[in-house]
Amino acid sequence: MNDVLRGFTKEYASSLQAYLAERDEAALLKAYEVGRRALDQGLGILDVAAMHREGLATALTGSLAPEECVRVAKGASDFLMESLSPFEMTQRGFREANLALRAGRQAHDEIRRYAAQLEAANKELEAFAFSVSHDLRAPLRAVDGFAQVLEEGYAQKLDDEGRRCLGILRAENRRMGQLIDDLLAFSRAGRAAMKMVEVDMAGLARSVFEDLRGAAGEREIEFKLAELAPAVGDRALLRQVLTNLLSNALKFTRRRPKAVIEVGGSAGHVENVYCIRDNGVGFDMKYVQKLFGVFQRLHSQEEFEGTGVGLGIVQRIVHRHGGRVWAEGKVNGGAAFHFALPNAGATEEEAQDPD
Ligand SMILES: Nc1ncnc2c1ncn2[C@@H]1O[C@H](COP(=O)(O)OP(=O)(O)OP(=O)(O)O)[C@@H](O)[C@H]1O
Ligand SMILES: [Mg+2]
Repeated sequence: MNDVLRGFTKEYASSLQAYLAERDEAALLKAYEVGRRALDQGLGILDVAAMHREGLATALTGSLAPEECVRVAKGASDFLMESLSPFEMTQRGFREANLALRAGRQAHDEIRRYAAQLEAANKELEAFAFSVSHDLRAPLRAVDGFAQVLEEGYAQKLDDEGRRCLGILRAENRRMGQLIDDLLAFSRAGRAAMKMVEVDMAGLARSVFEDLRGAAGEREIEFKLAELAPAVGDRALLRQVLTNLLSNALKFTRRRPKAVIEVGGSAGHVENVYCIRDNGVGFDMKYVQKLFGVFQRLHSQEEFEGTGVGLGIVQRIVHRHGGRVWAEGKVNGGAAFHFALPNAGATEEEAQDPD
């Protein structure tokens, strides 16, 4: 018997003796106390049983009448039960924790199953969108071809109204072509293989801005570019993100006498944030959730041209990089679009262990 057990055995016997003499609540509480401390010290139920046997043997020494022996044995078993109650409670706790753990595991398995189903459904939808938009192109081209034949060969046979209708037909046809192209670009953003490299985001933002600046015509534009943390991502896709955000900034500042477009950000331990801010027409924050949806626009076609796919593509690319994207704006108070990408360390870990 080790010292700890010996000490407890002594204490158990004397507490049992005291209980058998007093039979009161306070003496019974001692049984619980001894049991709890025995549990804390790493003793088990069998150790308590052994302590009890010793204690009972001491209590039963001497010449007790048979009825007295029965009374002592009964009292001692009450004491034993009390001293075992901490063990019982612990075991119940384990059982409950085990059940919770099992339930958690089942829920986890279920989530994995749902995620797999969702991914399969997404892929199917993706393939469907791709083939539909792809297949729509051929009849559209045919419609445009015949409209052109009409325009070139038969325009003089039509009256003004006929020519006007033909013009609308061709313009709407072009618009539909643009929608299909944008839908295909959206689909491509979700399917293109990604080659992860370190990307100089400030250099990329400058080069994208310079490309777009040329097409923006004679306007006063101040471009402020802060230092940016490099990103780890697919260069072509990140270029697309910056192109879509900067072209929006240029488009929605078009009416300002002087456009101010700022690219900034901050480096963080977990993620790096990039921000494109402008002093353009802004938007109502009430509809901020809509912005990233495909074909969702807050400005009319007459005010600002576009199909409403640019931000959908941005969100898709950023999500594929494991990042997040959000926007802030105010009617007539400019807009800011932020996106965060996992920083280099986090992405490398992810790349090694995609699960
Ligand atoms: N910088 C901005 N300032 C104000 N509103 C913006 C800004 N960027 C986007 N928006 C709003 O969000 C809508 C969706 O933007 P998104 O880039 O997806 O489409 P778009 O620019 O209209 O068309 P597309 O990019 O497909 O040519 C825009 O129509 C506009 O209402
Ligand atoms: Mg756009």
